[in-house]
Amino acid sequence: MLNVEGLEVRYGGICALHDVSIQIHQGETVLLIGANGAGKSSLIKSIIGVVQPRAGSATFQGYKLNGLRSDQRARIGIGYSPEGRRVFAAMTVRDNVLSGASRLSQARQRDTYDRLCALFPMLEEKAQQPAGQLSGGQQQIVAFARAMSGEPQLLLLDEPFLGLAPVWIQHISDAIREMQRRGTTILMSEQMARPALKLATRGYVMRGGEIKREGSAAEIREVALSDEYL
Ligand SMILES: Nc1ncnc2c1ncn2[C@@H]1O[C@H](COP(=O)(O)OP(=O)(O)OP(=O)(O)O)[C@@H](O)[C@H]1O
Ligand SMILES: [Mg+2]
Repeated sequence: MLNVEGLEVRYGGICALHDVSIQIHQGETVLLIGANGAGKSSLIKSIIGVVQPRAGSATFQGYKLNGLRSDQRARIGIGYSPEGRRVFAAMTVRDNVLSGASRLSQARQRDTYDRLCALFPMLEEKAQQPAGQLSGGQQQIVAFARAMSGEPQLLLLDEPFLGLAPVWIQHISDAIREMQRRGTTILMSEQMARPALKLATRGYVMRGGEIKREGSAAEIREVALSDEYL
């Protein structure tokens, strides 16, 4: 479904990714695991074309992803929740969430919002409030719900648990399981191996801009818990 071949990313003199190749099949939940600076965000950003790779390619169901705009990315079925709970601070919670669903009809947008409110009751309570007024955990939910709202086939989640209290980690985990039940394919990055490993079917371990290991969730758990890479 997603095929990444030989990606090379540099920021000035810094080599952030070196010859990174990953493959994701339909229905998998794949975990990218690695410490600060391992290259997880660079990989996700270069998959969706926010960062321009020097070499290599990313294709999704035959579409070349280089240079796509965010609305084009949503239209071909890719949802993205960036690291660090990026929300539009001045926009209402509802408009933030539905900005990920602009390709859907008004009626389907309403249904989508209702469905997301059932998962996250906070979205109903705070629907008309500017997103910038929410707590960090609540903003993470908004960013996550926005990525879900376009009903993506492939969901890219960059450290969805970062800085969250256990109760919010639980909420996000439940929502990820709901997406899995709906057949969504997921690529998520995390340093917090434990909650993420409960959700993953397979994983890649990154260090220094390279993929060091690849394996089933059980194999990756062993590597992660040995602290060799984290
Ligand atoms: N915009 C940038 N300009 C310069 N260097 C950058 C930039 N973004 C990332 N880097 C560098 O690229 C390398 C990989 O960073 P990246 O953000 O991809 O790592 P990460 O695995 O997502 O880390 P974290 O867990 O801290 O989010 C690091 O050495 C980082 O300092
Ligand atoms: Mg990162």
